[in-house]
Amino acid sequence: MEGSNLYTENDGLTMPEVGEWSKKKYSLVYEYDCLFSTGMKKNWQQRVYIDLFSGAGKARLRNSEKCVNTSALLSLLVKDKFDKYIFCDIDGNNIEALKTRVKAIHSEDNIVYLQGDANELASEIIENIPTPSTNNKTLSFCFVDPFSLNIKFDTIKKLSKYFMDFLMLHAFGMDGKRNIQIYAKENYKRIDYYLGLNDWRALDFKNK
Ligand SMILES: C[S@@+](CC[C@H](N)C(=O)[O-])C[C@H]1O[C@@H](n2cnc3c(N)ncnc32)[C@H](O)[C@@H]1O
Repeated sequence: MEGSNLYTENDGLTMPEVGEWSKKKYSLVYEYDCLFSTGMKKNWQQRVYIDLFSGAGKARLRNSEKCVNTSALLSLLVKDKFDKYIFCDIDGNNIEALKTRVKAIHSEDNIVYLQGDANELASEIIENIPTPSTNNKTLSFCFVDPFSLNIKFDTIKKLSKYFMDFLMLHAFGMDGKRNIQIYAKENYKRIDYYLGLNDWRALDFKNK
């Protein structure tokens, strides 16, 4: 990714800290945003960007003064802008900082902010996707970037009733492997919800 889109100034608003490795994630997601928004514009009248775990739009690199644009702001920096943007985050401070940042670079008309648990927001997200028709074909791109495995398969299933591409970070190392002993207990349902299955405990992972 061009450095000019990745790095940004510190504006003093809420800014989570991220590891150096995140730069690679931001480059990849921005590249995908560009491919999708330009590649799909001829065949789809409406292209919608959905960020289920949008964050604040900017982050500061750990042990550094450098700041970077994160997924939500990067999606607005593509050449062929999406027709609609839906940003969700559970943290009100992130949403407020994101709103202020977006306002500085983009008109507000086609942007929806939803604060809450992404797994509870599927219906509101769907309500905000433009109604498709033969002359108004709508394709969405949904970026799913949780800290952990707290995305339910059921949420993805509900959204995928609509024409939608997903780009998803699976937190297998950050959460899955680290906590598998806990999640394996019957009363922890995180992996059940993540997979949309409740018989995974019987699988023999070691020999696969
Ligand atoms: C790994 S960060 C990703 C942020 C952003 N996509 C980026 O590019 O840096 C995960 C974000 O999800 C938010 N979050 C955590 N749990 C959530 C939930 N259940 N629903 C929606 N957002 C959530 C956090 O506040 C945080 O901003």
